[in-house]
Amino acid sequence: MVELIKKKREGLELSKEEYAFIVNGLVSGKIPDYQLSAFMMAVYFQGMNSEETAILTDLMMRSGELVDLSEIKGIKVDKHSTGGVGDKTTLILGPLVAAAGVPVAKMSGRGLGHTGGTLDKMESIKGLSVDMSKEEFIKKIQKHNIAICGQSKSLVPADKKLYSLRDVTATVENISLIASSIMSKKLACGADAIVIDIKVGKGAYMKSVEQAEDLAKMMTEIGAKMDRAVVAVVSSMDQPLGFAVGNAIEVKEAIDTLKGNGPEDLTELCLKLGSHMLVLGEVCASYEEGVEKLKALIDSGAAFAKFKELIAAQGGDPTYADQPELLPISKFEKAFVSEKDGFIVELDALDVGIASMKLGAGRENQDSKIDFGAGILLKKKIGDPVKAGETLALMYSNQQADFIKAEQLLAKAFTINTNAANKKPLILKTIM
Ligand code: URA
Repeated sequence: MVELIKKKREGLELSKEEYAFIVNGLVSGKIPDYQLSAFMMAVYFQGMNSEETAILTDLMMRSGELVDLSEIKGIKVDKHSTGGVGDKTTLILGPLVAAAGVPVAKMSGRGLGHTGGTLDKMESIKGLSVDMSKEEFIKKIQKHNIAICGQSKSLVPADKKLYSLRDVTATVENISLIASSIMSKKLACGADAIVIDIKVGKGAYMKSVEQAEDLAKMMTEIGAKMDRAVVAVVSSMDQPLGFAVGNAIEVKEAIDTLKGNGPEDLTELCLKLGSHMLVLGEVCASYEEGVEKLKALIDSGAAFAKFKELIAAQGGDPTYADQPELLPISKFEKAFVSEKDGFIVELDALDVGIASMKLGAGRENQDSKIDFGAGILLKKKIGDPVKAGETLALMYSNQQADFIKAEQLLAKAFTINTNAANKKPLILKTIM
């Protein structure tokens, strides 16, 4: 291992056998954490070329269980987001794409830190369960064309180990490491094709469009080497997506969007990602046709009906979809108001995400308990004019004391100037 660390430190390419030695050693525990950490730091500075990244991805993917979705008819298209604030796209895209005829076999995650997780959001619907056996998962997809569950613990153990080390050794933000980490998990989940939403901006790992584009290219190259079609969309996370940040509050916004009354940015992103999923799933011949099909499914109520079907199939009460006011909401509400007149020129997604977590909607660590009814409802976003005393956001928490910290973060999140800023596009690049 010392030789391999030295080799990468000098910027040299490692062979397949050498990466196999590392992955086997890390899974078996034979390579100590300090050597793995040193190796990750060497990779952080020297990088890996696309061949090495694909080799590492393949080895990590094979380090644990591989999900076999071959019993499900049709092209299974997965979707992944690199994580953001207010990102409830899976709740919308899942039913929408399933209603269009593409089977959705979605394994999702939980929220941590400033980012939320689909599983937590779904569990804010009374009775709904995301725990199921592989057999149940497949049966549900065969019957309803969709199921959403948690990732099996035995999936990609090599990534679990490496990611937890990277997290505490400042080696997360390397494009090859991020690409191999995400792609190994997506590929192990058994999808035939994948649409990836790469977030860029303050609330994301990627801080520049160029970096995000490099990551997108790396992921599409890995896909090509492994015979899976990958489309990567680079989208802005300079401000939260939509207006709702939390759990139940995001479910409400997802319901509005499925009914055609959602926020403009969220709807635009869902149509973009969804139509690529329809093209990859071969139910539409072109991207434009995909957008029209998705809009029609929203207008006809078919997308919303599929959402209710999904809730019921996973043990939840679909009444909550018809009457979202029944969804949990925290005991206390407080308005965060503007101190001056002007225009919103910045709305830092990271600060809003942390504020929501402090209100109880997110996890500071893996063991934190979530308050499904907590969160933030933004009333103003970038480009909007505001008057002193006007509400910028509503905060929800079961602990009034939480408002103090959240208010400090929101005060930092909103930048108000006398002149309006140019609106930035939400979708920045598409790489296929
Ligand atoms: N998400 C992952 O799953 N892995 C990374 O390396 C970064 C984000």
